[in-house]
Amino acid sequence: TDPARIRNFCIIAHIDHGKSTLADRMLQITGVVSDRDMRAQYLDRMDIERERGITIKSQAVRMPWQVAGDTFALNMIDTPGHVDFTYEVSRSLAACEGAILLVDAAQGIEAQTLANLYLALENDLEIIPVLNKIDLPAADPDKYARELAQLIGGDPDDVLRVSGKTGMGVEELLDRVVERIPAPVGVKDAPARAMIFDSVYDSYRGVVTYVRMVDGQLNPRERIQMMSTRATHDILEIGVSSPEPSPSKGLGVGEVGYLITGVKDVRQSKVGDTVTSAAKPATQALPGYTDPLPMVFSGIYPIDGSDYPDLREALDKLKLSDAALQYEPETSVALGFGFRCGFLGLLHLEIITERLRREFDLDLITTAPSVPYQVTTEDKKTVTVTNPSEYPTGAKIAEVLEPIVNASILAPKDYVGAIMELCQQRRGTMKSMDYLGEDRVELKYTLPLGEIVFDFFDQLKSKTQGYASLDYEPAGEAPGDLVKVDILLQGETVDAFSAIVHKDKAYAYGTMMATRLRELIPRQQFEVPIQAAIGARIIARENIRAMRKDVLAKCYGGDITRKRKLLEKQKEGKKRMKMVGRVEVPQEAFIAALSGD
Ligand code: GTP
Repeated sequence: TDPARIRNFCIIAHIDHGKSTLADRMLQITGVVSDRDMRAQYLDRMDIERERGITIKSQAVRMPWQVAGDTFALNMIDTPGHVDFTYEVSRSLAACEGAILLVDAAQGIEAQTLANLYLALENDLEIIPVLNKIDLPAADPDKYARELAQLIGGDPDDVLRVSGKTGMGVEELLDRVVERIPAPVGVKDAPARAMIFDSVYDSYRGVVTYVRMVDGQLNPRERIQMMSTRATHDILEIGVSSPEPSPSKGLGVGEVGYLITGVKDVRQSKVGDTVTSAAKPATQALPGYTDPLPMVFSGIYPIDGSDYPDLREALDKLKLSDAALQYEPETSVALGFGFRCGFLGLLHLEIITERLRREFDLDLITTAPSVPYQVTTEDKKTVTVTNPSEYPTGAKIAEVLEPIVNASILAPKDYVGAIMELCQQRRGTMKSMDYLGEDRVELKYTLPLGEIVFDFFDQLKSKTQGYASLDYEPAGEAPGDLVKVDILLQGETVDAFSAIVHKDKAYAYGTMMATRLRELIPRQQFEVPIQAAIGARIIARENIRAMRKDVLAKCYGGDITRKRKLLEKQKEGKKRMKMVGRVEVPQEAFIAALSGD
């Protein structure tokens, strides 16, 4: 295709503002999906596909569209919507020349609208502002058109009004895509350079790599090279999705399509990397490639220890489709054998644990999420601590650096007080406060990431009756007055409960855990002290009083078979007990203490 007849775009929106519905309508209106085959959320069908194992989730769809007698190829590129995946979003945006900024006409601008808009502007994309859901009785397009125009500049009358549901305005939107979004530019005769914007594992075909061609051409059967690793592979299939994958004679300047090389692991075909030709390689990779770093860590343990091999197998499988997932074996006194896992953020953690539970049918316990701390001791050694139990104990601590984020919170103005109070409690520093339109406010804060991973979002939602939205991005590290709090049972540290917290919150954490455990751990034959400590200093203490639990006392003089039965029963019970020193703790107690039930 002549690059002048190509338009590459994406739709950016806050969650639930109707991106998938609009994408569906575009597929239908351009005729790539017949009305008969149209089902809700055509593009969003990963589950069904996995079950059938035959088609591939379309990360990009090519649609024909005619304007004034000329046929254009519109490539719509899908972007993940959440903050955890900012890097993936930024690569998808880098594959486009323009973006449709979609805003719900009954809701207005939300935090992800802004976050995605800023990313799009960083990538120099042409922005087409659009209000969606204008069929809703609650829609107030005039108000939000002003809001949008104020945000990105321009005339409120230029903001298109559509309904993804009824299809109203969608044809005009497609015309505008052709009119406003620049055609791709690249050098036809240069060595091939294609950017990977997504990489998806398919159990039948191996990894399917989605690329945007920048320069040159890639052909069927050609040997390609990944520029970050120099690894080479043969192209087994190259083509475009429309929306079903269909092989083509190659991809040229500005085109968007997929490659299949038979590799089995998405780590061999990484998002952001540049694909070039092995025979005639480019000298310079496309800009922007980085290895995404995990920012949130958690221990994942099977509730039933015999599920450990299944958990390992499940993680090995998930890794094939998720380049950002990291894990290594870990053992815990309290929880047995498990894995220390690293995630991009909280949502990523939730997605993975949910998939482990649902797709692999595993019962799991996860430890409280933790962030990476840089701990420097007085003998000038620095370690990265992703697990509180690895916190250095030998030498004195000179400094602890913690990850910091820039957060943007949007909410109706009535909730500003509640939000400021919450951010204050979480050691936030306010950077700015701006009105967007009449009643909506954007608050910018820097906050320690460690405070956000600890139920910040839930608190924010409950304090604002669900109206606030949040987005954040890493903003380096800052020294923090942090300490490690240990929880001890009869003098023995219970590793799974150690936490790195701010000095001012250590006492509260210690008391909370000690009280919780006192209620959860049954009485033993001896008194059991529960202590919270910072190093050797005890900051809180509870006691579980002793109880003489002699089952045989009850049947003094009774017959021997009854005695034996009772002893058997006691042994059964012990199997589900974990020993911490001399203290027997039912596993349920650990689970309940960790989940805060
Ligand atoms: P995710 O894919 O989950 O990020 O959400 P999304 O932004 O793609 O939103 P989706 O298309 O799933 O739509 C969210 C909800 O809004 C669904 O219940 C849709 O039926 C509804 N919806 C989408 N577009 C319209 C519209 O134009 N009018 C009305 N009335 N409802 C719509």
